[in-house]
Amino acid sequence: MTAPKIDHLRDLVWPEHRRIESLPGVASVAGPTVTLQAYRELLTAFLGYYAGLEAAWACLGQDAEVPDCVAPSRVAALRADLRQLGASNAELAALPVCGQLPACDTPGQRIGVLYVVNGSTLGGLVLAAHVERHLGTSVSGATHFMRLNGEATKQHWASCKAALDSILARQPDTFPEVVGAAKQTFSTLADWLT
Ligand code: HEM
Repeated sequence: MTAPKIDHLRDLVWPEHRRIESLPGVASVAGPTVTLQAYRELLTAFLGYYAGLEAAWACLGQDAEVPDCVAPSRVAALRADLRQLGASNAELAALPVCGQLPACDTPGQRIGVLYVVNGSTLGGLVLAAHVERHLGTSVSGATHFMRLNGEATKQHWASCKAALDSILARQPDTFPEVVGAAKQTFSTLADWLT
């Protein structure tokens, strides 16, 4: 049997990826009629999800190989973007925080969660270019979250996958758990964004 690899996840969870892309709040930002309000609402929803997830960040970062996969903070980037778009600190502090999050108790679960949150930086670049093209200067300086790792995105993604692969190589039997956790990450996010 071929050893499981992080790259195998792509096909296994692509239906879940498509579901996220087709959610109204996401599709409206990815589509040709994107508005600043739709972009702001999507960032606000992401902030609620990542505020919950980053409270579990210490748990996600406990495997020796993954320090780079849990940085930088999505919450800090989202708060910076929303402040740039006019939100006050008081408004940001009052936002709801997601409580239905993927489990990250085992190495397999953590691999699945980290795969999704890091892989999403690839789509982030696509969305950032799209909103900048359509909304112009009104989003200037407000794409820290979508451009989380900037020009280092591909390199960061490659090193994150290598780190996750090295954990997986030691415990290949956990692969079904990895797939389940990746699906649960997509589904908890999709439910929160719905
Ligand atoms: C409209 C929104 C989105 C668009 C347009 C988009 C687009 C993309 C693109 C172009 C890729 C690269 C695919 C490749 O190189 O083969 C990608 C990868 C990925 N995206 Fe998204 N994405 C979106 C939203 C999301 C969200 C919200 C998540 C989860 C939080 C996510 C998770 C992932 C993952 C995990 C990968 C890595 C797939 C792999 O190569 O294993 N995406 N996305």
